Amino acid sequence: MALLFLSTPEREAVWRPIFEAAGERFIAGEDAVTDPDEVTHLMCWLPPQDLLRYPNLKVVIGAGAGVDHMPRMPEGVALVRTLAPGIDEMVRDWVVMATLMLHRDMPTYVQQARAGQWKGHAVPRARGTCVGIMGAGRIGALAARTLSDMQFDVVCWSRSGRAVAGAKVFAENGLDDFLAQADILVCLLPLTDETRGILDAALFAKLPRGASLVHAGRGAQLDMDALRQALDDGVLSSAMVDVTDPEPLPEDHWAWNDHRVFVTPHIAANTDHEEGARHALAVIRASRENAELPGKVDQDRGY
Ligand code: GLV
Repeated sequence: MALLFLSTPEREAVWRPIFEAAGERFIAGEDAVTDPDEVTHLMCWLPPQDLLRYPNLKVVIGAGAGVDHMPRMPEGVALVRTLAPGIDEMVRDWVVMATLMLHRDMPTYVQQARAGQWKGHAVPRARGTCVGIMGAGRIGALAARTLSDMQFDVVCWSRSGRAVAGAKVFAENGLDDFLAQADILVCLLPLTDETRGILDAALFAKLPRGASLVHAGRGAQLDMDALRQALDDGVLSSAMVDVTDPEPLPEDHWAWNDHRVFVTPHIAANTDHEEGARHALAVIRASRENAELPGKVDQDRGY
């Protein structure tokens, strides 16, 4: 039983000692594989083309929270995404930052500052402002709890409709009612066939007029042309996006120079190396015991 590790030297420097201390076999790089039969687990952002080279491969562990870029695994190979508290907390922090920046009208204040203009406007309160979170998994639920502690009204929309502390939850068929309440819409959805392009003109039109968009899902969920039109029409007033399609966002893209939009370069979170290694060890132990794999992806559902 061995983990084949396909990632950076910096990450290897953290993972290798943790695996060695745990007594687990750790192979870094395909060139270091002497016996493909011993590879049972593989850690990577993207797997190599020829996974069938490893006949005893049981689990592929994706390096991040999202697995939309992963191919379908061969029969009998499970796909796991990394579960790490740091990812949840970092994305939550970014969402809270973005929500506050838009709620407190930073687009206007940044623009005024560039012009050396000292001018205050009415100060909105969190209380009475509704944040609508699309996607209520680990990250969405954490963001919901924090924003609700800050006195925002929080509603969530999720496929399962599972309860979330501090939030009213709308299930799949409640999308329109959910949108009608969301003064600030936060997208944390995984990218699937159902969510590709979901942030479009029709959806924006269902939000309260002048709503704001916070996007930390995946770039392909957002129609950037529709965003621009919605901003121009007053349907939306501002947006902050950490994910774009394509990434990197081209240098001459309109969004860079539009004061109503803040773009960050997919930095909401990264995976803490140690937490990633500990999660991988937990996956290996669970697969040895035939127990449920933490972070196992339902490959039909896509997340
Ligand atoms: C980053 O977006 C990730 O999927 O971890």
